Amino acid sequence: MSHNRDAALLAAKPWQELPQPRPFRLCCIERIDETHNVVTFRFEAAGEPVRFCYKPGQFITLLLDIAGECYSRAYTLSSSPSRPYSISITVKRVHGGQVSNYLIDNLRPGHGLDALGPAGSFNLVDIPAEKYLFLSAGCGITPMFSMSRWLTDTRVGADIAFIHSATTQADLIFASKLEAMANGHPGFRLGYLIEQGACPDWSHAGVLPGRLNLPALETLCSDWRERTLYVCGPEPYMAAVADMVQAAGFAMSRFHQESFGTPTAQSAPAAGTATGFMLKVGDKVHPLGESGLLLDGIEALKLPIIAACRSGVCGACKCQVLEGEVLRLSEMTLSEEDKAKGMVLACSTRALSDLSLKL
Ligand SMILES: Cc1cc2nc3c(=O)[nH]c(=O)nc-3n(C[C@H](O)[C@H](O)[C@H](O)COP(=O)(O)OP(=O)(O)OC[C@H]3O[C@@H](n4cnc5c(N)ncnc54)[C@H](O)[C@@H]3O)c2cc1C
Ligand code: FES
Repeated sequence: MSHNRDAALLAAKPWQELPQPRPFRLCCIERIDETHNVVTFRFEAAGEPVRFCYKPGQFITLLLDIAGECYSRAYTLSSSPSRPYSISITVKRVHGGQVSNYLIDNLRPGHGLDALGPAGSFNLVDIPAEKYLFLSAGCGITPMFSMSRWLTDTRVGADIAFIHSATTQADLIFASKLEAMANGHPGFRLGYLIEQGACPDWSHAGVLPGRLNLPALETLCSDWRERTLYVCGPEPYMAAVADMVQAAGFAMSRFHQESFGTPTAQSAPAAGTATGFMLKVGDKVHPLGESGLLLDGIEALKLPIIAACRSGVCGACKCQVLEGEVLRLSEMTLSEEDKAKGMVLACSTRALSDLSLKL
């Protein structure tokens, strides 16, 4: 690496200073096969070097043109801002999925793409804690890995319990990096649940067969009740964990979760919700579709809106209701001030009357 490049990197401005929501260009510099269906992509800023600044646990939104169609999808940064000169995302192949398959099959070092962000309130800055319990399943490991990397890089002796569930041993993501973390940091305790097949006998991690249940949690982390819980994984996993700890009397004010979204969940009209309302944005007016969802109307008007999760978790589709009545199905990422100003998440808000909207 040249001296000039080192000087440019050290003088680089943090990402934070880039105006949002303007997209900016990333260049893929590395791809790492984590498992048979999970790949990590590492990026630098295209052009001038950038020192990326984000909160551990946040995501970016990739903006892609695939065969002439525009797609936007959120991906958690699996990297840590303690190593700021590049960022990584870790993508799991979703059967039939447009973007995950495109990335895994096509994205190589040297390729560029556009991104927005970072964003997301599931992070260590907005959810501080003394003692951490990270519970994840499948690709839900990505925010937990970023948070753990940040804590082990920046805080000597951080008290972290990291318990991950996978289908088989071959599906364990970041296994060797987590082993190094466990061996290098006495405050980092690692546990795995392996649903099918053999369980390895490891000295750096407790490994149990089956799914996470209360006895397994007690075995892997006996002081779990004293910790702040961060949970991420498939929807059924997160619902089961929430039910389990609530039934065990856990203080749910210390329970925090991130959903990667169920894109179809919001699209059916709610029983009893009237439809046929009109949506006005600027000087454009369009009937809202059968779902009554604001996002459907905005997209029908072909107005620019980023909808990364389509399930009310990422905050990308925030807009303002100027006139009319709505039903908010999700208020995640909206502050009290936002709500007082009439801000809504278009993907998760239904019209209850004709509406006037500002994007
Ligand atoms: C805040 C946030 C963070 C995320 N972080 C990550 C991450 O770190 N790594 C990662 O791999 N993904 C992550 N996702 C999910 C990601 O944004 C995409 O939804 C996912 O890659 C699927 O996109 P696709 O275009 O391949 O599938 P689509 O073309 O959107 O969907 C195809 C089909 O698969 C179903 N489907 C979509 N998503 C999923 C899913 N996650 N599981 C099962 N079925 C699904 C759809 O209902 C549809 O039937 C995150 C999502 C959010 C909202
Ligand atoms: S698209 Fe993510 S909150 Fe609406």
